[in-house]
Amino acid sequence: MTEEFTFTSRVQLPQKISTKAMAPSNIALVKYWGKEDIQIPKNTSLSFTLSNCKTKTLLELEAKKKASEETQIRIFLDEEETPSFVPKIQKFFRLINEYCPYLKQYHATIHTSNSFPHSSGIASSASGMAALALCLVQIEKSLQPDVSEADLRKKASFLARLGSGSAARSIEGGLVLWGKHQAIKESSDLYALPLSSEIHSIFTDYQDTILLIDRGQKQVSSSLGHSLMNGHPFAEARFAQAQNNSTELQSYLSNGDVKSFMRLVESEALTLHAMMMCSRPYFILMAAQTLEVIHKIWAYRDETKIPLCFTLDAGANVHLLYPKKYKDEVQHFIQQDLKQHCQDEAFIHDEVGEGGRFLG
Ligand code: DP6
Repeated sequence: MTEEFTFTSRVQLPQKISTKAMAPSNIALVKYWGKEDIQIPKNTSLSFTLSNCKTKTLLELEAKKKASEETQIRIFLDEEETPSFVPKIQKFFRLINEYCPYLKQYHATIHTSNSFPHSSGIASSASGMAALALCLVQIEKSLQPDVSEADLRKKASFLARLGSGSAARSIEGGLVLWGKHQAIKESSDLYALPLSSEIHSIFTDYQDTILLIDRGQKQVSSSLGHSLMNGHPFAEARFAQAQNNSTELQSYLSNGDVKSFMRLVESEALTLHAMMMCSRPYFILMAAQTLEVIHKIWAYRDETKIPLCFTLDAGANVHLLYPKKYKDEVQHFIQQDLKQHCQDEAFIHDEVGEGGRFLG
């Protein structure tokens, strides 16, 4: 149990509580791949918080009539009841029980909606868990009004992490770091923080256009994916590399070295996939179209000198990363050369955003 995040209040709990929050998705530049129990990452990761891909959540709690009643949880996705989400939330509530002890006195109804289509191959767990965590800490704020905004946000990241590791990085905006790093004093395994080093202006409004190569369900679940790193022949080297990459990336982000940024970010994406290709069991999560797009990006970059690079999640979709000043040229390139590689020619435009917020 982490004392710092344990909630205590002598205030009488209300019969009904209703709270609303929003949180965006994020894209990792240095990847989190491999974890220990209760979502402790094996390495530091660093991400851009996005702006347009986000989840809005309304959490309604109603006091149980008797303390012995089993907690009922109902979840509505886009107004439609979705019982398949209930086990994940039940597990989450069990994990956070000691940090939000008031929860067990209530039944919960969650109304949630994503700004991105359900069938986009974009995981909603980061934005979804972050939005729910913000709802929970907002309840604490109402029960314990003297708690600071900074502490609430830290706790939101702590709780979000217990729902889904990468969700810890969706509370704060801009560039966010999660995981203990030997060279960064304030870094923590338990929650994510905005990067404290100075960020060059070229990176503060970076663009991320997500090419939806495969809009299907994830082929490999996150939990299976992370577990592939247990006993993986290259695990230790990979974790050490991620620590080094986190330090290096910070210096490129400070000095505006876009060339080195691109080299590091693409290498991180390919390493993530390489890890999956040589784990047991092994997986190839890129599609033929993913590779076509990567080759086109490289040829375009050579020809135009426009600093466009890519990153990948644990799937086939490609995130195109580039400075805002090249938005028109890159959009033209997408229309002309890339969108035909996407399923139904679909892509989503996003950019660095400000993080989650309370909506009342
Ligand atoms: C490849 O956060 O989805 O996107 O902690 O099991 O919920 P769980 O995993 P999750 O893993 C994300 C992995 C990744 C890389 C990253 O976002 O850092």
